[in-house]
Amino acid sequence: MIKILNIYKNFKKCQALKDVSFDVNNGEIVGLLGENGAGKSTLLRIISTMLKPDQGTVLVNDYDLIAQPRDVRKNIGILFGSEVGLYERLTARENLEYFAKLNGMDNEKSKNRTNELINQFEFKNYADKPAGTFSKGMKQKVAIARSIVHDPSVILFDEPDSGLDFKAAKIVFDFLEFCKKTNKSVIFSSHSMDNIKTFSDRIVVIHKGVIMESFIMHECRKKYTDKEINDMLFNLVCGDDEND
Ligand SMILES: Nc1ncnc2c1ncn2[C@@H]1O[C@H](COP(=O)(O)OP(=O)(O)OP(=O)(O)O)[C@@H](O)[C@H]1O
Ligand SMILES: [Mg+2]
Repeated sequence: MIKILNIYKNFKKCQALKDVSFDVNNGEIVGLLGENGAGKSTLLRIISTMLKPDQGTVLVNDYDLIAQPRDVRKNIGILFGSEVGLYERLTARENLEYFAKLNGMDNEKSKNRTNELINQFEFKNYADKPAGTFSKGMKQKVAIARSIVHDPSVILFDEPDSGLDFKAAKIVFDFLEFCKKTNKSVIFSSHSMDNIKTFSDRIVVIHKGVIMESFIMHECRKKYTDKEINDMLFNLVCGDDEND
């Protein structure tokens, strides 16, 4: 469960986020849609404790971002686009074991959890090869496994489909489906309107740091055609530039 409460963030003269509030329930996937510079990464960085908000806070499973950042961090898994964060000289297995230990697991636990993840994400055949030799898709699989080594209940993915072909992107979205089945709360951002529409339970549109609209997808599909949804999303994402 994520509760985003009245977040503001400025960078010098740039107001990156203005009074951003929304909730993500357990088992809910929220797709964050917005043009370049809209504030998506800033928001995800704030929730993941990498960046402090100027005002407002976030509750992650009732832990307060400002007062309990360590507890918040334990509850979240993070994947930021192409920054897969793997050590290229280490094998996939060594990478996972290393991150498991960083998360406080002893030798045996980290080995067991690593084996579990290798099986879940089906990369036994390259688990013992150096990450530097992997394709983008292979890296993304290992990076996803790495981001959930501590079995977090909240997942934050910033453009996880960026630069991936269909097969590799499927790995990412199969994982999001798995998150839903296992009752995790997910926020992901993407520039693919199709991926956002297909995989989100709710779409949150952000424009110039302001939340414009939030759409519950199954309700939207009952009321509107696909073209109407596309037009609506496009207009909100791009904003009314005459008034900007
Ligand atoms: N470290 C920083 N210093 C100064 N300005 C920043 C910094 N990080 C972000 N910004 C500004 O804040 C605004 C929001 O940026 P952000 O990276 O959150 O957008 P985004 O929605 O993730 O865009 P993109 O789709 O291009 O990734 C932009 O105007 C950006 O220039
Ligand atoms: Mg971004």
